[in-house]
Amino acid sequence: MAAKKKIVFFCSECGNESAKWMGQCPACHAWNTMVEQEVGTGAAAKKARPMAEVPKPVVLSEISLGEEDRVRTGIGELDRVLGGGVVPGSMVLVGGDPGIGKSTLLLQACRELAARGQKLLYISGEESLKQIRMRADRLGVFSDGLRLLCETDLGEISGILKQEHPDIVVIDSIQTMYNEEVSGTPGSVSQVRESTAVLLQLSKSLGISIFIVGHVTKEGTVAGPRILEHMVDTVLYFEGDRHASYRILRGVKNRFGSTNEIGVFEMRQNGLEEVENPSEYLLSGRPENASGTVTACSIEGTRPILLEVQALVCQTSFGIPRRQSAGADLNRINLLMAVLEKRLGIHLGQCDAYVNIAGGMRIAEPALDLAIAMAVVSSFLNVPVGDKLLAFGEVGLSGEVRGVSQAEVRVAEAAKLGYEICVLPTANAERIGKTKDIRLIGVSSVRDAIALIKK
Ligand code: TYD
Ligand code: MG
Repeated sequence: MAAKKKIVFFCSECGNESAKWMGQCPACHAWNTMVEQEVGTGAAAKKARPMAEVPKPVVLSEISLGEEDRVRTGIGELDRVLGGGVVPGSMVLVGGDPGIGKSTLLLQACRELAARGQKLLYISGEESLKQIRMRADRLGVFSDGLRLLCETDLGEISGILKQEHPDIVVIDSIQTMYNEEVSGTPGSVSQVRESTAVLLQLSKSLGISIFIVGHVTKEGTVAGPRILEHMVDTVLYFEGDRHASYRILRGVKNRFGSTNEIGVFEMRQNGLEEVENPSEYLLSGRPENASGTVTACSIEGTRPILLEVQALVCQTSFGIPRRQSAGADLNRINLLMAVLEKRLGIHLGQCDAYVNIAGGMRIAEPALDLAIAMAVVSSFLNVPVGDKLLAFGEVGLSGEVRGVSQAEVRVAEAAKLGYEICVLPTANAERIGKTKDIRLIGVSSVRDAIALIKK
């Protein structure tokens, strides 16, 4: 009997499947994202399932742990985000806007891995071999362990992988891959999904680590790699302003390590350079003795990162004051300004406020609250808080300052970078006790912290 084709609808944002078309996706509530796709009767999906020959239950303690099996990429920041290196047989999705540096990062990783004796295959569906060569020439010398292939047909690719048996494969990008057994054009939801399923099966059965590049587009015209997140072992997102030189690699899912670990890179003439001390990097160019700027400390994964919170508060020339934020949560800023107005009687109601985290970091941690509140008041009063002061702490609705996690680590990082005063929640200050490198000022309310900004 001929295989029957079925029509289903997929949301191009989240991959939600539905039997009929809808204007709004019931899962992610995005509008006009449902696209029609023809799917097979599941034969392809069945084949794509990871196969162990005969499944047999095993005792937990008998499973060998291969921490030493991890292969270091030689790029410290990438290893950190991966949780210590590449795990054999794992699938890693590297997502990010086009042009952010995904291909560059992976080619650099390939270079290091090849130099360590790994057998690599870089499969590109986007660039010609010449283009890759041109890029590679900027990055340095490559050893012969790396081989390149321009191919988009997954049938061919799977044949080559079975024959060549490389250790690590890079697929650049999943949106260009094409699986004959599935209908739809490359980049469509069903193609992306099925292609990944085939790669997953190859990865697990042959023990090959596969890096998949996926573009994220805001328009949702190309199937976003979001729908792949649950299929792969690790999801890394490459963030940053394309026009600025820093790049942040963020782990959002990791079956082999901690998430929310970040790696910081700088895009240079000859590729991506690791930034080992992001605090110094983010604080470079900080204005001296200016009002409206306060240094804060945020914990990203296991690392403390110092950053500069800037605020500009000025009289509004509109009926409704403008509040804008770059890098911090706008709702949080509105809340903090309401606390300042109500609890401290600072009249911000007629003021525009712009808050910026210098360096382009995006931070959602409430530990930044105190620094934001102090920066806003400092700008409002036009009084600098001082260059050697650092503040962190969560601010509650009644203006109380609550303790935050890992205060010791934050204080140590501040001391290391030469800060002299650290304003922190009393609860944390009491636990840390006396320190010789830095003066700790414990505050229990925003009022106490604001009082430190002298007129
Ligand atoms: P690329 O890796 O091609 O991005 P993606 O694969 O995510 O689409 O990134 C390329 C950008 O980086 C491009 O705009 C040029 C820049 N670049 C450098 O500045 N220096 C370099 O050494 C390289 C290779 C690229
Ligand atoms: Mg690319």
